[in-house]
Amino acid sequence: MSFILQEVNDGKPSMKSWKDIGFEIEITKDESPTLRLLESLSPDKPHGESMHHSGGASIETTHLYGSVAAAVLSKIDNPHFVVVGLGLGYIEMNIAREALLRGKSVGLITSYESIPELREFFYLWLHDQVQEFSPEVLQVYEDVLMHVLKGTEISPQELKSFLKKHFVKLEDIHGALHEDIQFVSRYHGFFYDAFSGKTHPHLWGEEFLNRMLREASTENSMLSTYAVKGALKRALQAQGFVYTERAGFFSKRGSTLGTKGFLVS
Ligand SMILES: C[S@@+](CC[C@H](N)C(=O)[O-])C[C@H]1O[C@@H](n2cnc3c(N)ncnc32)[C@H](O)[C@@H]1O
Repeated sequence: MSFILQEVNDGKPSMKSWKDIGFEIEITKDESPTLRLLESLSPDKPHGESMHHSGGASIETTHLYGSVAAAVLSKIDNPHFVVVGLGLGYIEMNIAREALLRGKSVGLITSYESIPELREFFYLWLHDQVQEFSPEVLQVYEDVLMHVLKGTEISPQELKSFLKKHFVKLEDIHGALHEDIQFVSRYHGFFYDAFSGKTHPHLWGEEFLNRMLREASTENSMLSTYAVKGALKRALQAQGFVYTERAGFFSKRGSTLGTKGFLVS
């Protein structure tokens, strides 16, 4: 079943737009696009949450996640990565870019995304099945890729071919990371980029974080997230990670890096 089609007046189905799935486009300071929720999740905030900092979606992703993918790839062959919150796929594209720059392969990318349309859009775009896409949806993915590849000589098709091998079927992009999830692998890199917890509070709960790190990390693992939370710090330390509060991006207070095994520098 397709989630990105909708009935219109004349009975012919049409492709959904960003607005149809509750988002609007925001162009951030480095000119890369992000999506902002049309409705606020918290009563104290008038605007919906954005997927990235307004200071620069692409630069923020490289700062928080691309740098960590690079560190893992430089020390581990065929590493496994898990991404919580596919969104527009910036992190997946950062992983691919860092691997291609080093001539390295990636063993596994497990991505979780709770919004079915975001899974389907990304999958179809990756596989060049965009004939019916609304122009604004297509443009956002093309712009994201262009920004991720800026300053490299990697071609858009090269990066897409790399990722296509990891997302062969639509089902290769997982749905929501539920509280009782059984992890499908162990990972060397955790990229924890879900929204801040109003919709899925367990994601930031100490019990869940402890279980995830215990059951799904390897001897040598790294975790990066834009967030700084006491529960995360305690869970990382309880599961043998060295906790570091890194500089936050732009005006953000800080961000979290957890490192275990020979990845500790
Ligand atoms: C900050 S955005 C992610 C941005 C994304 N990493 C990117 O590179 O574009 C957060 C995403 O997490 C998703 N999300 C929220 N709760 C989730 C859950 N429990 N499991 C998986 N994804 C979730 C949201 O739908 C949203 O797309």
